[in-house]
Amino acid sequence: MKYKRRILITGGAGFIGSHVVRLFVNKYPDYLIVNLDALTYAGNLANLIDIEKAPNYRFVKADIADLQRMREVIADNNIDGVIHLAAESHVDRSIRDPFTFARTNVMGTLALLQAAKEYWESRPEKYDGKLFYHISTDEVYGALELTTPEGIESPFRTKASAEKQHAYGTDFFVETSKYNPHSPYSASKASSDHFVRAYHDTYGMPTIVTNCSNNYGPYQFPEKLIPLFINNIRNHKPLPVYCKGENVRDWLFVEDHARAIDLIFHQGKVADTYNIGGFNEWKNIDIVKVLIRTVDKILGNPEGYSDSLITFVSDRAGHDLRYAIDSRKLQQELGWEPSLQFEEGIEKTVRWYLDNQEWVDNITSGEYENYYKEMYGNK
Ligand code: NAD
Ligand code: DAU
Repeated sequence: MKYKRRILITGGAGFIGSHVVRLFVNKYPDYLIVNLDALTYAGNLANLIDIEKAPNYRFVKADIADLQRMREVIADNNIDGVIHLAAESHVDRSIRDPFTFARTNVMGTLALLQAAKEYWESRPEKYDGKLFYHISTDEVYGALELTTPEGIESPFRTKASAEKQHAYGTDFFVETSKYNPHSPYSASKASSDHFVRAYHDTYGMPTIVTNCSNNYGPYQFPEKLIPLFINNIRNHKPLPVYCKGENVRDWLFVEDHARAIDLIFHQGKVADTYNIGGFNEWKNIDIVKVLIRTVDKILGNPEGYSDSLITFVSDRAGHDLRYAIDSRKLQQELGWEPSLQFEEGIEKTVRWYLDNQEWVDNITSGEYENYYKEMYGNK
């Protein structure tokens, strides 16, 4: 079949990547979608079981830091667009093991950029119709002040705005905010963003970078706050809240992020940056209370049953106080906005984890790592 586009999506076996792969495979049957993933601890092909047999889908197990392999995959599949999500993504792990983050996020991104550059420059049409789209994070901007700790009504409204939409400060990250990363994770993502822009500025490669806030939803690895706590509430285990739970994050439902990626991939301006966020700030402790309420309600536990699970523990080293994204540029230029109210998204998410206990249990038991071992070899 002659495909209209031939897209390489990296990190497609992870949380956000699996939603992006699913969206593209289903929405664009005339595109070839190549999902390239090293299947690290965070990669799980069970996330894609519903589309793995689609005729326009291919999976390649490979490490993005392997330059020669990236050259082969891009040439073999005649790739004309890259959507790059593969990364080490967990801040706590980066504090314990920064080298792995530099290797994958910095050197891996560089290898992928270089392989795409060489292939595209070797083609008669060069960079025409090509795009290297790099998915990054709001954490590169550092931390914002928490100037209104009681919360004020957010200055931003969306169609999906919840009644009690709050902001915990008066400043927000915009596309021109200064980079000021604090954790080894965000430092590695900042470095990769700079490399992507350097490949545009130096070689003329068509690139786009987006910086998104915290995602939540199905298929998130249960080391991250929301899935970890849902699972612990279900198993009546302690909920380790760092410090006093006063840190603020700006939450976006993962499918809204995937929709933004689709829109920007097709209509974004080359060499530009877009911030993506939910206009939806929450203190960690308030999220934890919402999760307790929602899980207890669904499981039929009496009100307050799981409150005693909240356990305040030592703070994360260098813990950023507040993230808050101003994504009005994306709203105004491309017409994107979040589609889901947070309360709706959280209820949907909690139900998904409770309905898919086997998916979670396979991860917590380590069983998922055996899942595709025979097919793709040991990790
Ligand atoms: P994830 O940890 O769930 O998934 C990462 C995927 O990358 C996994 O499938 C893993 O196997 C793969 N991978 C890791 N190292 C690799 C390597 N060397 N070669 C090939 N594949 C490799 O991450 P996520 O939460 O889905 O995040 C995806 C991307 O989005 C990351 O770049 C992250 O920085 C960014 N991001 C995440 C969030 C969030 O809230 N989760 C928010 C903004 C941006
Ligand atoms: O902002 C975007 C970023 O969001 C992404 O770039 C990262 O890849 C993603 O992991 C996420 O980073 P966070 O550090 O914000 O997410 P995490 O779920 O690890 O933590 C959310 C908040 O909850 C944070 O303030 C730390 C706190 N926390 C987390 C865990 C795992 C706890 O209090 N206890 C916990 O056990």
